[in-house]
Amino acid sequence: MPKQEFPFPMPNGWFCVTRSHELKIGEVKSLKFCEQDVVAFRTETGVATVLDAFCPHLGAHLGEGGCVHGETIECPFHAWRWNTDGTCAEIPYAKNFPPKAKDTKIFNYPCVEINGFIWAWHHLLKEEPTWEVPEIEGFNGDDEKWGKIHYYEYNINTVLQEIAENDVDQAHFPKVHGSPSLPETESIQDGIYRKTIAETLMNPNNDSVSEEHKVPDQGMFSTTFTRESWGLGTVGLKMINLPPDGGEFIMINASCPVDNKNSILRWSMRVSKNIEDELGMAIIDGIANGVLDDMPIWDHKSYVSDPILCDGDGPINKFRKWVRQFYSEPHT
Ligand code: FES
Ligand SMILES: [Fe+2]
Repeated sequence: MPKQEFPFPMPNGWFCVTRSHELKIGEVKSLKFCEQDVVAFRTETGVATVLDAFCPHLGAHLGEGGCVHGETIECPFHAWRWNTDGTCAEIPYAKNFPPKAKDTKIFNYPCVEINGFIWAWHHLLKEEPTWEVPEIEGFNGDDEKWGKIHYYEYNINTVLQEIAENDVDQAHFPKVHGSPSLPETESIQDGIYRKTIAETLMNPNNDSVSEEHKVPDQGMFSTTFTRESWGLGTVGLKMINLPPDGGEFIMINASCPVDNKNSILRWSMRVSKNIEDELGMAIIDGIANGVLDDMPIWDHKSYVSDPILCDGDGPINKFRKWVRQFYSEPHT
């Protein structure tokens, strides 16, 4: 059987282009986003902007040497300046502003900044956003209850659907992660939103936890693990009732499809202050390392469009039905 590449185009939705603190005022970044070359920049008043990368004048990449001037980005080739909405602001050496430049607009991606990330909206047919990125508790300056935010970033050699499917693939947990396979106790799918709750057994001393963060006095414990997804780009996770005295863990997985073979995941994790010096780092470290177990599988796997499933498998087909809504026709 030849390897089957993933058959769908880039998904529609909000995806993370960078972290807010990684795009400072005046900073310009050259990025790949949903198979497109784009430029992200932050203007002098702080507006985060994502535009298609190529200058309509003679094609220079605005992210490769372009610079911010006030509320515009200046092209590195002939110094034309472009507004955040993609219109031409200024041609420094033209006596007459050409009419064609008035009608030209670089595509600007709808952009929002929330939860510590800059999100851009991708739609294959360039349609407007149909939902908003939700505000997730614990990641918008509400620092009193929560400890330090721990940041992780992963380059993954597969597409977001395959990565997300891992969460419902219950049967891979014992083999790949050495943890028990536990069915969801509750699952809600409502439009672009999906929520699952599972009682999970955690071992703060399993192989995923680095030696320095293990907690030898703490045995296996049970926790309620809630996972909420908004499209394929935004996932919020929460664990409650953590030992020893009711600690909490929260996490955001902000994803970006780079192209049809690569994705970037950016994770922010934090625990409530009451467990920060105890179990907190074992949980964070165990989760951060857990994804490394999946990566060799993703590096090499084929996409099986019509899998043989058995009664111990998770709700793979239900999940695949839900994700269909994020692809524009025609499917390839
Ligand atoms: S290519 Fe951008 S100003 Fe000429
Ligand atoms: Fe996994």
